[in-house]
Amino acid sequence: DQPNLDYKIVLLGDSSVGKSSLVFRLSKNRFCENLEPTIGGLCVIQNIEIGESEVKLKIWDTAGQERFHSLTPLYYRGAKGAIIVYDITNSESYKRATDWILELRENGEQDAKIVLVGNKIDLERKVVEDTTAQKFADKNDLHFFTTSAKTGEGVNQVFFVLAQLISQM
Ligand code: GTP
Ligand code: MG
Repeated sequence: DQPNLDYKIVLLGDSSVGKSSLVFRLSKNRFCENLEPTIGGLCVIQNIEIGESEVKLKIWDTAGQERFHSLTPLYYRGAKGAIIVYDITNSESYKRATDWILELRENGEQDAKIVLVGNKIDLERKVVEDTTAQKFADKNDLHFFTTSAKTGEGVNQVFFVLAQLISQM
């Protein structure tokens, strides 16, 4: 029995890739077509069950807008896990995601678990191929998932797998 498990995790990625929408889907099981861009960062607490134990996730949802970039180390400091999000319809956001992973590996917690997420799979106009992201993930020893915050597809699994990876550390 391990009571009071408490994990800080952080979401990083370009503006409008859907970070806040993924957290909203996880915590409220809802979707909003026009969320405001996040300012700075905010924390959402979500309890999830891993096997026998209840884990408290402290999820830091950060702002992707460039003007907030200098703040992000405050949010990923001490994070045991990170979810790096891109939008499958936006190749620039994929490039940014790979940059985030390198930055985290360099400046984040030593053995933070990182998950790469391609969001908005409900949209038709995919420009980033899954195989491209999967290859990058394999090479960098990460897990890769695709999600839709709109339909909910794949969303819970991302948080669940990340919590599980952290619990195995
Ligand atoms: P910042 O806070 O600026 O960093 O952006 P963000 O990454 O938090 O993006 P946000 O969740 O605010 O979503 C941006 C827009 O994309 C919103 O209008 C959402 O409705 C939309 N969106 C988010 N996820 C999805 C998705 O899975 N599918 C579709 N079709 N739209 C999505
Ligand atoms: Mg946001």
